[in-house]
Amino acid sequence: MRLIIKKLLNLIGGDHFSEKIYIRFFQLKESIQYQFLYPLILNIPGLKTIYFIFSKAFNYEVAMFIAARKDYIYKKNNNTENLFLLRRNIHRIEKGLLMKNRRSIFALDYIEDTTILYKKIISLNSQNDQLNWAHDILEKYFSVTDSHPTIDKAKNIFTNIENRASRQVEFTPYSLSNENKDNSFEEFKKLAHKRKSVRFFTNEQLPERSLIDKAITVAGLAPSSCNRQPFMFRVIDDPQLAKKTSNLAGGTTGFADHIPAIIAVIGQMNVSPSIGDRHLMYIDASLASMNLMLALESMNIGSCPLNWPEDKTKDKQMAELLSLQKFERPIMLIAYGYPEKNSMLACSVRKPLEQLRQYN
Ligand SMILES: Cc1cc2nc3c(=O)[nH]c(=O)nc-3n(C[C@H](O)[C@H](O)[C@H](O)COP(=O)(O)O)c2cc1C
Repeated sequence: MRLIIKKLLNLIGGDHFSEKIYIRFFQLKESIQYQFLYPLILNIPGLKTIYFIFSKAFNYEVAMFIAARKDYIYKKNNNTENLFLLRRNIHRIEKGLLMKNRRSIFALDYIEDTTILYKKIISLNSQNDQLNWAHDILEKYFSVTDSHPTIDKAKNIFTNIENRASRQVEFTPYSLSNENKDNSFEEFKKLAHKRKSVRFFTNEQLPERSLIDKAITVAGLAPSSCNRQPFMFRVIDDPQLAKKTSNLAGGTTGFADHIPAIIAVIGQMNVSPSIGDRHLMYIDASLASMNLMLALESMNIGSCPLNWPEDKTKDKQMAELLSLQKFERPIMLIAYGYPEKNSMLACSVRKPLEQLRQYN
């Protein structure tokens, strides 16, 4: 829209004229918005809805939410592999198990569905920690809860699942006292200071994939709402694809050619059917991304988060480039590689403590 107005003005009166009118026009627009329009919208019930009938600003997010909900309902009703739901429900049961005054009957509204889902998923997958955890939590649940028609039915389904290979590990709630209590603040502070956004990388050597995998495993340890982890990391270390991806990011002007590899942090909105949960993927993916960048830094691999603002055209290009589903989108990109020797870093002085925190 801005571009069209600018071009029209340019045609009418040339460069200087168009620049002047253009600035005045947007000053006037902002002043009308600030003084009249926004106070009205904020204070008159119903106006918000009317205002956004005329704006397409949220269409993209709405379309994504609908695609996510469609996928969620499909998976739920067709009892297919919904690992998000399994992790969520197992985690809910796990929380029930660790409560101080544990109830003898709980999780009635989802224990049967969860057991059926578990049965389905293990029939499609080989044994892994995630599924062993689900198994151990269900086993513990059935061993501590009282008899109830719903629980008994689910227990019957569970005990009739074919025996799995025996194993040592137990993934059930454990006591905090077993944890190492080392005070590692100074070490952590050093790492947090050392991590800086690196924008120039050497093209001579790319960090080995095994190191990236190690960092991503640590990234996955970040907290996530109900343990759902609505994100994944797409590591782009193919030079051609990395070049295309970094050129798509708006904030790489001046250093896109110095990025040898990039990680696209992909949010997955189909993790929940609730509209109130639509921000989970942004929050959880960002927490994991911070872990990732610190883990990379601990191995002397530099990184730079890159903004991925909502932009219909670019989102479409990226979705095609990475074959993303309709309910997936990049949360941010992370350029990575070994830093170029003696390249410059920004100071980026931070907010002082008094601007950063307020008690109560
Ligand atoms: C979500 C996010 C998006 C960012 N996008 C860009 C970007 O597009 N281009 C860029 O050069 N830096 C980008 N940065 C890096 C910030 O400029 C940088 O983190 C900030 O100035 C603090 O500096 P430091 O990371 O070196 O400590 C981004 C950072 C974050 C967290």
